[in-house]
Amino acid sequence: MSSTKSGTAASSSAPAATGRETLTIIDNRNGRQYEVPIKHDTIRAIDLRQMKVHESDFGMMSYDPAFTNTASCISKITFIDGDKGILRYRGYSIEELAEKSTYLETAYLILHGELPNEAQLKEWTYHVTHHTFIHESIKKFLDGFHYDAHPMGMLISTVAALSTFYPDAKDIFNPESRRKQTYRLLGKMPTLAAFAYRHSLGMPFIYPDNDLSYCGNFLNMLFRTTELQYHPNPTLERALDVLFILHADHEQNCSSTAMRGVGSSHVDPYSATAAATAALYGPLHGGANEQVLRMLVEIGSVNNVAAYIKRVKAGEKLLMGFGHRVYKNYDPRAKIVKRIAYEVFDVLGRNPLIDIALECERIALEDDYFVSRRLYPNVDFYTGLIYQAMGFPMTMFPVLFAIPRTSGWIAQWQEMLLDSEQKIARPRQIYLGHDLRSYIPPDRRG
Ligand code: SDX
Repeated sequence: MSSTKSGTAASSSAPAATGRETLTIIDNRNGRQYEVPIKHDTIRAIDLRQMKVHESDFGMMSYDPAFTNTASCISKITFIDGDKGILRYRGYSIEELAEKSTYLETAYLILHGELPNEAQLKEWTYHVTHHTFIHESIKKFLDGFHYDAHPMGMLISTVAALSTFYPDAKDIFNPESRRKQTYRLLGKMPTLAAFAYRHSLGMPFIYPDNDLSYCGNFLNMLFRTTELQYHPNPTLERALDVLFILHADHEQNCSSTAMRGVGSSHVDPYSATAAATAALYGPLHGGANEQVLRMLVEIGSVNNVAAYIKRVKAGEKLLMGFGHRVYKNYDPRAKIVKRIAYEVFDVLGRNPLIDIALECERIALEDDYFVSRRLYPNVDFYTGLIYQAMGFPMTMFPVLFAIPRTSGWIAQWQEMLLDSEQKIARPRQIYLGHDLRSYIPPDRRG
């Protein structure tokens, strides 16, 4: 089963299967013929190296900028069918997990491969909950940031700083050490995020409350003021928990690829997570949810949508929150987010920007520019509307993506480490630069 290809029935005109799982390649430069094995509907790129014109040649490579058609690993964590809009974590559909599970339970599933029984879930919750505190010194790093520092910059920095507090994390092939760092990362990401938010407001840091749920405690550290104990609104607490489930993993996306690539040098998981967080920060990736809101604010009213769409079609702008490398259908997560948005608006009031978003979607789903390019709303299109209604500033939106994705990053990192076929990531290149040339002293240069 290959997640980058949807399951498509063989057309009636397809030739009958031969049962031979090989590819025959004829090199027309010299007429040589090669037979390479096919496994999982894929050939190994290294099997191309035997194809040479001269024995001294390096041999054939494949060229795939941005890895649009290259599998970098074998994984059992997340399955996506882009044509059918299917997303499953360890075989469980995102729709069922969003309806019946919790983020911590889903994180356990993603990391361990199975849903926990009651005892396992209780122990898992206990350990993550009891690793929410951060070293007091980290507050000094946060105090060093400007008040208007972007919280993703603060999060990247403080996650990386965790590696200096836990040198035992370098023991990456010790399962007990990996377990401990997993508790710490899942437990501390919300705390680092909340502290960054409170720093930007100039408000005192709120310490974790272990009597609250994972999301309840996060809301506590964000929004508590003078009350002795924070009581999260249950609808908002559940809405955030479901959003965290939706963002928990997404196979070999840009930030997971960063996690695997940086982790392949055998650095500690905190440094690799900082790299993954940095990749997620980009406006084409997890930073898109912030850019969607900025786009909706820039459009300003439903009446201006048509003019903005015209600029998009002219190539002047991207319709942020639309399009996806894998989904060529509606992102299944976006459908769930859209439903959650109305539940949150029932509690907090309707975010007027949703009318602009709905008009963008209506036009885009009818317009050939988007239809022909199979551009549909992705997970980032509606999330920002919810976060804004919940009182988050736009700069916090990518942070709200990074927190739950930490479980996916760790799972991908661990799977890479334990995969005997994996080694340090070091792609090849096609060199088209200068041939050998001699040094010319400055006074003789043109
Ligand atoms: C996430 O990979 C993942 O799984 C990511 C993610 C996850 O959970 O980890 O799902 C999370 O990152 C979601 C994506 C969030 N990003 C955005 O919403 C930013 C806007 N989207 C685009 O930047 C773009 O769609 C990407 C980056 C998401 C995907 O880019 P691809 O696959 O490289 O597609 P492409 O850039 O080659 O686009 C194909 C065509 C191009 O037009 P032509 O050159 O054929 O004329 O579609 C156009 C693009 O210009 N296009 C868009 C567009 N996205 C693609 N045109 C207008 N608006 C857009 N949003």
